[in-house]
Amino acid sequence: MFNKCTTAVARTASSTGINRQNTGNNIVPKPKPEKKVKTEAVNEIIQINNEIYNSSINRIFTKIIGMIDFRSDTVTKPGKEMLEFMFQAELGDDVFEEDPTVNELQNYAADLFGKEDALFCSSGTQTNQIAINLHTSPGGEVICHKDSHIFKYEGGGIAKNSGASTRTINGVRGHIRANEICNWINPADDPHHPLTQLVSLEDTSNRGGGSVYDFNEIREIKKYCSEQQLPLHLDGARVFNALIENNIDFKTYAQPFDSISICLSKGLGAPVGSLLLGDKDFIYKARRVRKVFGGGMRQAGIIAAGGLYALQNNIYRIKEDHSAAKQLESKLNESNSVKKVLPVETNIIVFELNDANTVSEYLSKLETLGILALPFGGGTIRMVTHLDIHHDDIAITCDAIDKIG
Ligand SMILES: Cc1ncc(COP(=O)(O)O)c(C=O)c1O
Repeated sequence: MFNKCTTAVARTASSTGINRQNTGNNIVPKPKPEKKVKTEAVNEIIQINNEIYNSSINRIFTKIIGMIDFRSDTVTKPGKEMLEFMFQAELGDDVFEEDPTVNELQNYAADLFGKEDALFCSSGTQTNQIAINLHTSPGGEVICHKDSHIFKYEGGGIAKNSGASTRTINGVRGHIRANEICNWINPADDPHHPLTQLVSLEDTSNRGGGSVYDFNEIREIKKYCSEQQLPLHLDGARVFNALIENNIDFKTYAQPFDSISICLSKGLGAPVGSLLLGDKDFIYKARRVRKVFGGGMRQAGIIAAGGLYALQNNIYRIKEDHSAAKQLESKLNESNSVKKVLPVETNIIVFELNDANTVSEYLSKLETLGILALPFGGGTIRMVTHLDIHHDDIAITCDAIDKIG
């Protein structure tokens, strides 16, 4: 309000051009130098007020609207249009395969990726674990990157659900190289070793800081897998970020994979759900495993509708998240507290502080300024851009990074 008042003062002073003094019948124009001094003073007041106004209004907004939440792209909430679409969804019992909205979502996703069939599941962990369960048997082995979600963040599910072990491989930014894989495929005729039964890739890689696979590398990996008759699985929780960044045709990209898990509740902004894609026989068997894992849902169309809306409306806007992440990367690179920012490829920013012991201090300074980020281990912090991060939020966050220094 104060800001509005000073703006009004400024308009009066400058628009009339002269300040009139009433001296009886004569109106005497005010001398020019005085007018200049007054205008400067007014401008200065406006500037100071704007600064006070902007910083306090930012604080007030973040308090009223909520924090600017960069912890993950899973924190998005469905907007009005998505919710309306969900409310209007036709429903049925999906365990009987009678939910029209779930069926539509599954068909839509299968078509999008050129796969024969798809299965709607509750989470990315569930789709990954169902796929692993179908590709392996107890005592078998899964080749994956040492930082992969299936190995690190699925509660030991590979061992627990499927009785399989893992051969974890090093590699830059969460990526396995094709020429590494052949070193780790165990000879099938030697009973000392577990039987290698599956290769799993993650694109984009979460711990790799949203890194995108080179598609030629994927093709090479597929070549080794085919030679050894090994299935290739994709944890594509953030596959849309990879596809948009690589500007690659979805069907061409999907072709080398025997099974694909995609998440609807990350960059796409749906509240719940993931899909497992594969051929008809694989998805037929997956339906049974999903039931065994307790994942058979009934009128699931209400949440599937959110996923369908997301697939139909939110894929191409992901590019905005990538450019927002790039803006944050530039700002962090200017900061004195920051040692290194992992080059941003998609929507994940991982940065290392000069002093690894100051992560919690840095996070609480951000929090005081209305911003949430995630500790990511080894003196690093992760920020993820998403559907609910707006242009203004990036400006506020850049200011905050400047303030922290
Ligand atoms: C790469 C990756 N895969 C799988 C998942 C699991 O998804 P969900 O949280 O839906 O189980 C995540 C979750 O963040 C992830 O980052």
